[in-house]
Amino acid sequence: MRRVLFSAVVLAVFQALWPGLAAAQYVGVSKCRPCHLAQTKSWEETRMAKAFELLKPGVAVDAKRTHNLDPNKDYTSDPNCLSCHATGYGQPGGFVSAAKTPALAGVQCEVCHGPGAGYLKPNMMSLQNKEYKRKDLVAAGMVIPSAQVCQSCHNEKSAFFQPFDYEARKRQGTHVHQPLKYPHE
Ligand code: HEC
Ligand code: HEC
Ligand code: HEC
Ligand code: HEC
Repeated sequence: MRRVLFSAVVLAVFQALWPGLAAAQYVGVSKCRPCHLAQTKSWEETRMAKAFELLKPGVAVDAKRTHNLDPNKDYTSDPNCLSCHATGYGQPGGFVSAAKTPALAGVQCEVCHGPGAGYLKPNMMSLQNKEYKRKDLVAAGMVIPSAQVCQSCHNEKSAFFQPFDYEARKRQGTHVHQPLKYPHE
């Protein structure tokens, strides 16, 4: 116990001294929304946005039954489900529980684009710096979506896995797409 307390104190001091290094890495969709309204509104309509709901008892009853899951069980705190049905579960600043981090439920922006705390800075992705260099943001943790990113969840560890064709699924939808206006090379 003392050891745990000691580590907690060390961590708190560490975070105070180097906030950029140790502070929360995931910021949640509400931070992306104002600057990316079209993408956010259309994402909200997708099943991935609502993926946390599937873990609640009484939801997706038939699908759970056919895959030997108990439809009356509450899976919302089951580590075996959260890595794919929440944002950043088990990672620094990511989803912890529905009570502590309700704003990180579901498959949000940062799952596919990387945790925002690193690249949402005035000298990075911001209204003052619309012509940011993409390589600077990638160095700060922005992720360029790829088949590998999707397959971290769309794989056989999921009872509901269906063969995953990246191009086809991309077309099926993550959100609407608008061409970028500014150069970033
Ligand atoms: C203060 C405004 C602002 C906020 C907040 C913001 N963005 Fe951006 N974002 C921009 C601007 C400006 C661009 C460049 C747009 C352009 O070129 O048309 C951009 C571009 C992007 C791109 C394109 C990346 C590329 O390939 O260059 C992605 C993806 C993105 N934002 C995701 C996010 C996510 C995810 C969040 C929340 C974690 C977020 N943004 C929050 C302003 C913002
Ligand atoms: C490795 C990632 C992963 C894990 C772990 C995981 N899921 Fe999923 N789950 C997915 C993906 C991806 C889909 C969508 C599959 C598709 O449509 O291709 C999905 C779909 C579902 C569905 C919807 C099925 C339907 O057809 O309506 C339910 C319900 C579900 N998962 C519940 C759970 C529960 C409960 C757990 C934990 C016991 C869990 N999942 C663990 C990735 C995962
Ligand atoms: C964090 C885990 C995770 C990642 C990463 C992920 N997905 Fe999913 N995806 C899910 C889950 C869970 C579902 C099931 C939702 C449901 O069935 O209701 C799903 C469902 C979908 C669906 C069906 C949605 C619909 O509205 O019909 C599409 C399309 C999809 N994913 C595409 C992608 C693509 C493309 C990527 C990568 C760019 C990706 N996914 C990355 C977890 C993930
Ligand atoms: C399941 C994965 C996934 C999620 C979740 C997701 N995106 Fe994307 N996003 C993509 C893919 C894939 C692209 C297109 C990359 C390409 O062109 O190859 C993209 C492109 C973008 C772009 C570039 C401009 C455009 O419209 O294509 C922006 C901005 C963006 N996303 C913002 C967001 C925001 C904000 C959210 C949350 C509300 C979000 N994304 C959620 C996968 C995702």
